Amino acid sequence: MLDILKYSAAWLFQVMKHFEERLHPMPDTPALPATGRAWHLASRPVGWPKPEDFALVEAEIPTPGEGQVLVRNTYLSVDPYMRGRMSDAKSYAAPYALGEAMQGGAVGEVVASRAEGLAVGDHVLHGLGWREYALVDAEGAVTVDAQAAPLSAYLGVLGMTGLTAYAGLLRTAAFKEGDTVFVSGAAGAVGSQVGQLAKLKGAARVIGSAGSDEKVALLLEEYGFDAAFNYKSGPVGRQLREAAPDGIDVYFDNVGGEHLEAAIGSLNRGGRIAVCGMISVYNNTEPAPGPRNLARLIQTRGRIEGFLVGDHYDLQPEFVREVGPWVASGELKYRETVAEGIENTLEAFLGVLRGDNTGKMVVKL
Ligand SMILES: NC(=O)c1ccc[n+]([C@@H]2O[C@H](COP(=O)([O-])OP(=O)(O)OC[C@H]3O[C@@H](n4cnc5c(N)ncnc54)[C@H](OP(=O)(O)O)[C@@H]3O)[C@@H](O)[C@H]2O)c1
Repeated sequence: MLDILKYSAAWLFQVMKHFEERLHPMPDTPALPATGRAWHLASRPVGWPKPEDFALVEAEIPTPGEGQVLVRNTYLSVDPYMRGRMSDAKSYAAPYALGEAMQGGAVGEVVASRAEGLAVGDHVLHGLGWREYALVDAEGAVTVDAQAAPLSAYLGVLGMTGLTAYAGLLRTAAFKEGDTVFVSGAAGAVGSQVGQLAKLKGAARVIGSAGSDEKVALLLEEYGFDAAFNYKSGPVGRQLREAAPDGIDVYFDNVGGEHLEAAIGSLNRGGRIAVCGMISVYNNTEPAPGPRNLARLIQTRGRIEGFLVGDHYDLQPEFVREVGPWVASGELKYRETVAEGIENTLEAFLGVLRGDNTGKMVVKL
């Protein structure tokens, strides 16, 4: 998943240009403690991860070697894809090793450096989250401007989940003006950005589904969705038909299962389904049944295509040029759910799987 964090410095400098406010004055670097804590994977979860599958381990803080920096992490990202890395099934990202610190997106402050171009006090985005202090190779760290945008934004709205929304909607789903768009997980990090991007780019109608009435209200009242429903309140197929009586042209799938079948059932001729994630099956111990209505793809000439954000880095400059100003002006809104403290990182991760979060879930250290 390190690949996902390989943001070019040029791209991030473009982000900076879009922010006028100076939000975070540079804090003084505190003295280094002798030890730091990191979350290890103790055993591979079967079904829902349990606390005993993990261990919060204290260890001596290492000293950087040539070409390395020591980073005091400020924000950790917890993401659904991490569930996949806890298993050893073959996937696009390597499994987490047992008995070692887990990895993930993080931003932090350089507190010791033996790397050219990276100085103490710099803020960097890197791939060694789930820990308080990270020893990072210079090529795995990208400098970000803590004054140009809140540091946590580089993990969400301006980071991996933002680019996922942009690439999946515009490239994979080939969104065009006038489309009716349905997105699941619509109050989450990716989903909330997909729905708002579609509106800003001229969708005829945007429909979202989420797991609580409060989230549904947020979609309608704050994010400007045209219709939204709580998927826990009734069959998704029926609720989608009511919300989109003329059918849908695009479905952005974050959830899979019943949602995917419902979307196929409402797909218009030439409809496109971008499969971003299938969170409803991540903790399954048996293969989930497939959609029973795939034959509708023949009538509709519909298309279903999966994608990975890591294949779409070439869109970063365009993403930031277009989305940066919308975020800065408040036309594109975002929320974060912020857990506090390294000891609450596991709970925050489990919270994402449960739906405790609205917008991007991050952990502030
Ligand atoms: N393809 C890629 O490159 C890529 C990159 C990033 C993310 N993703 C995928 O995109 C999806 C969203 O990721 P994110 O980071 O933005 O997470 P997120 O949406 O911020 O958080 C996950 C949300 O999933 C919902 N959820 C959990 N279990 C569910 C279920 N059984 N049915 C329906 N909804 C359920 C919860 O919201 P509710 O309260 O609404 O249930 C939860 O808040 C995930 O599937 C993730 O794996 C893919």
